[in-house]
Amino acid sequence: MEVIIPQDSADIPVIAADAICSLIKHKPHAVIGLATGSSPLPLYAELIRRYEAGEVSFAEATAFTLDEYVGLPSDHSQAYANVIRQEFTAHVDFADDAVHSPHGAARDIPAACREYEALINQAGGVDIQILGLGTDGHIAFNEPGSSLGSRTRLKTLAPRTLEDNARFFDGDITRVPTQALTQGLATIMEARHVILIATGPGKAHAVQQFVEGPVSAACPASVLQYHPHATVLLDEAAARLLVHSDYYRYAYATKPGWQGIGPQLG
Ligand code: GLP
Repeated sequence: MEVIIPQDSADIPVIAADAICSLIKHKPHAVIGLATGSSPLPLYAELIRRYEAGEVSFAEATAFTLDEYVGLPSDHSQAYANVIRQEFTAHVDFADDAVHSPHGAARDIPAACREYEALINQAGGVDIQILGLGTDGHIAFNEPGSSLGSRTRLKTLAPRTLEDNARFFDGDITRVPTQALTQGLATIMEARHVILIATGPGKAHAVQQFVEGPVSAACPASVLQYHPHATVLLDEAAARLLVHSDYYRYAYATKPGWQGIGPQLG
């Protein structure tokens, strides 16, 4: 994995936005995997800024979100399909029907999961997948214990995730849905480039575990150690428990300029 701890954490959204804009420049019909949560918000703000400045267009691009709560009405403000629209896609020029989310309100959940996987495949697979990180090491809603070979499916959320996400439901944990549809770890691993963003002291333990610990279903994000092109963007607070952080800083600072984190075009 390419672990980047910029001196100035304001560079995190810039580095991620550079990778996405470079991808779209070479491949306007790129497929972008979007994540909800607070970690990618500065990235989305940067992409909106670049769109408004005429530097990037998403008109030909397609997007897939990672996950969706089960049990929320489709017009609920915290349904992830609405969150991603409010935070990002409605502010740029994605085509109306080009942003996809798992169908959390589907009657036939297994069929909806299969259809979501098929839709991603029909689109040609994900070029760049943005990821956040749960404090328990989850990515998307793949909670500890998730099969490293998992595909899009229904997951029961861990108590810690319910606690973490209660802040989006007026702090009331009883209002957080207990289940979600989520892309599986194997689904995420098929993205050609993954960019995980983790910031703040609450992520430090999970970061150390997934970057430097064993690959284990107990820490689902650790599966990214097997990914051929995974970029991990950290601020100092999230990086503070890493044993090899000095090496990661050195490697990034001395990297040849031509060796950017840019996309691998398949
Ligand atoms: C939720 C989402 C994840 C996200 C995580 C961390 O559980 N399903 O995709 O990565 O929250 O969110 P945050 O970035 O707000 O800490």
